[in-house]
Order: sequence, then structure tokens, then C-alpha cells
Amino acid sequence: MGDRIRESWNTRLGFVLAAVGSAVGLGNIRRFPFQVGEEGGAVFLVVYLCFVILIGFPAMLVELSVGRKTNRNPVGALKMFGGGAWMYVGGLFVVMVFVIFAYYSVVSGWVLRYFFDSFTGAYTEDPAEYFVEISTGLDALFFHAVFAAVAIAIVALGVQRGIELAVKVMVPSIVVLVVGLAVYAFTLEGASAAYAYYLTPDAEVVLSNWHLVLPAAAGQAFFTLSLGMGVMITYSSYIDEDRNLSKDAGMVVSLDTLIAFVAGLIVLPILFTVSDGPSTVSGAGTVFVSLAGAFADLPYGSLVGAIFFGILALAALSSAISILEVAVSYLIDEADVSRFKAAVSVGFVAFLLGVPVTYNLVFIDLLDILAAEILLVAGSLLLMVLVAWLGTDKAIEELKKGIGDLGWMGTTWVWLIRVPVVVVLVVSLYLGFVDYAEFLREDFADFLVGEIRQLQEEPTRVSPIAYFF
Ligand code: TRP
Repeated sequence: MGDRIRESWNTRLGFVLAAVGSAVGLGNIRRFPFQVGEEGGAVFLVVYLCFVILIGFPAMLVELSVGRKTNRNPVGALKMFGGGAWMYVGGLFVVMVFVIFAYYSVVSGWVLRYFFDSFTGAYTEDPAEYFVEISTGLDALFFHAVFAAVAIAIVALGVQRGIELAVKVMVPSIVVLVVGLAVYAFTLEGASAAYAYYLTPDAEVVLSNWHLVLPAAAGQAFFTLSLGMGVMITYSSYIDEDRNLSKDAGMVVSLDTLIAFVAGLIVLPILFTVSDGPSTVSGAGTVFVSLAGAFADLPYGSLVGAIFFGILALAALSSAISILEVAVSYLIDEADVSRFKAAVSVGFVAFLLGVPVTYNLVFIDLLDILAAEILLVAGSLLLMVLVAWLGTDKAIEELKKGIGDLGWMGTTWVWLIRVPVVVVLVVSLYLGFVDYAEFLREDFADFLVGEIRQLQEEPTRVSPIAYFF
């Protein structure tokens, strides 16, 4: 590190809001409600809650203590915490920034587009056709660029003047608007059918599909809490010694879970009011198509649509900045690059990687399953092993600084991570690999075969580039 003074949060609240802003994102609103409804209602919810409490919470504590202990970006932090080879795990985190940001920004670009079009009503006429039109090609590319540019600008402004200021406005707005929409959704005709679909326990689904439900629940828990990629290490590297880390972790985990839960109380009643519920989770566009269609038929539909996509855009933005910040802090700390240059170069490369996604949506699954079910789980697993088997004393000492003597909780916490968490993660990781292999063999292979066939039939269509024009 050069002579630059390392940045830090301005206020206590700033850090918590930034962490909540990172956690609450597309994952909470776009995926979670559908997953619950489809994969066993209340039973899935219980499985998921167990994951969040028994695995997400300790994993969050691990990241927070590593970050605060070292005051470094994930690469520097792991090098300091565990020694030489561990910095490659930090390197893996930095690579993941690009994998996740690339598709996250494309999907967020759609959200922006839908937000603006709520005012014109453009998506109400033929929602399915509209989605096909805007989700790929130049339209998608443009909004992907706009979204990425805003995220880059916030990160470039710095920890206090950029990220902290932005989340202080965005996170409270998200909470207020989410509560408002939930109240509105409660008054809709389809509310009771939706609640039944959402919460009726169906143990059968979970039991017969456990090999899919388990990695999905684990992946979602990590993804939604922004764990396994060093986001929390990075954010907690900007805090002071006097924070109570378990309290902060508890706050982030519970707010995130609560907002995901309430998102279901919004999305599902809307869908049940205009039709008989969500068709299927699969396909990145389902939520967009079905909800856009619904807003056309609802009381105050265009206002509700604007608020809904507005919330989604804020949630996506406050998450996207945290993803970029991991790689940006790495460049600032380790390569002594200025924040502005780091933000622009990281953001630009991540933007470029998102370009193929705007060519064909199969790339979303290609990156999303890889990230959520494999990379984040592997990242967390490695961190857990490092901290709970190799660095426990340091981590506990760090936690103590914020909360005093941990008593029995200290040792329970460590054993929880050492054995059950590690076992569950290894199993989830294995199942995630199996799931991903199946995706590659089926959906992705179909896509490639289709592309090749098209090239043979239409030799003039020389390259995917032509698609954009
Ligand atoms: N948690 C965010 C969501 O639910 C996404 C996110 C932000 C994320 N930062 C992350 C996911 C880091 C994994 C790793 O949408």
C-alpha cells in the first residue's frame, strides 16, 4: 500500500446500511418468492431458514472478523490472516466479481428499462413479446451500459462520498416502499390464494427433490447474503474496532431475510390476482413477463409497476456497487491504483463480459448457476476451513473486541463451523457440480447445437456480432 490513507465508513449506520444494501438485491425479489412457492412452501422456508441461521450467520461472522482484523481487501486479508497460499482464495473472489457483475448488470439493465417503461405503459400490451425484444440485442446492451455506468460512478466517488451516501438514501427507501407494496398486495383479491401457495407446507417436494432443494437453498442463502465472494470482508475492512460484529451480522441477516419474505407477500398476491399464480421459476424472464402483464390489469397498475421496478432497481444498484468494490479495493490496496482508475477499469471489464449475455439469455444461467451453486459455496467453504480450522484464535479474539467475552458461544460457534457447516457445504458443492453438469449437457448443449445449425443454414450470419444490428 502506498502512502494513501485507507478509507473508512463515516458512521456506524453507514456500514450496516451498506451491508444490508449489498445483501438485499435481485436475489431477494426476483428469485426467492418463486423458489419458496415452487420448492415446497413453508417446508422450503424452514430448510432455507436453517441454512441462513446455521450457515449464513456464521459465514457472515467469519467474513466480518477477517475483514476487520486485517483492514484489507480480500486478497490482502487472506494473505495476512492465513499466509501465502490463501491469497489465491482472495484471487478467486476477485475473479468472481466479474462473473457475477456481468450478468447482474444485464438483468439490472432490464429492470431500469421496465422502470422507465412503467410510465409509458410500453410493456403492458404484449408482455412476452416486449421481454423478448428488450432482453437481448442493442436495447439490453444500452441499459446494461447505463446501469454499469451508475454503479461505477458511485464506487468511484469513494467509500464515504459514494457508497455510504448512496446506501443511506437507497436502503431506507427500499424498506419503506417494500412495506407499502406489501400492504397494497394484501388488499388484492388473490392475496389469500397466494399466501396459501407461498406457505402451505409440502414436505413431499422437499423430500423427493432434496438433491435439488439442498444446493438451491444453500446457493440462495449465500447469494442473498452476499457471502462467499469477499464482499463482507471488504465492507468490514472499513470499520473501526468498537463494533459489535455479531450484532451487525444479525442485523444484516435478519433484514435481508425479512425483505425476501415480504417480497413474496408482494409478488405472489399480484400474480394470483391476475392469473392462477406463477407459471414456473425457470427462465430469467418469468418474473418480468408475468409481473409486467399483471400491472396492466391491476388497480393503479402503472404506479405500482413503477414502484415495484423502482425498488428492484435500487436494490440491484446497492448490490452491484458492493460487487465492484471487492475488485476495486484489491487494486487500490495491492496495486496502489487510484480509486477512480480502479472503479472505471474493473467496471469496464465486467461490462464487456456482460455483452455475450445480451446476445443470448442462456449465458445468464451459465454464469448464475456457476456463481451461486459452485463458486460462492466453494468460496465460503474455503474461508470456513481457514478460519475455523486454522485461524480460530484470531477470529475469536477479533469478535471479542466488539462483544466482550463470548463465553460458551465462542466455542459453540467454532464447532458449528468446523463440522456441520463444512459437511453441508461439501455436500452442497457436490450437488451443485452435478446440477451444473446437467445444465451444461442439456440446456447449454442445446444452445450450442442450435447456433451451429443456424450457421450452417444461414452462412451469411457470420458472427454473433451481426445479431446486434
Ligand atoms: N446479495 C445480492 C442479491 O441478493 C447479490 C450480491 C451482491 C452478491 N453482492 C454479492 C451475491 C456478492 C454474491 C456475492 O441480489
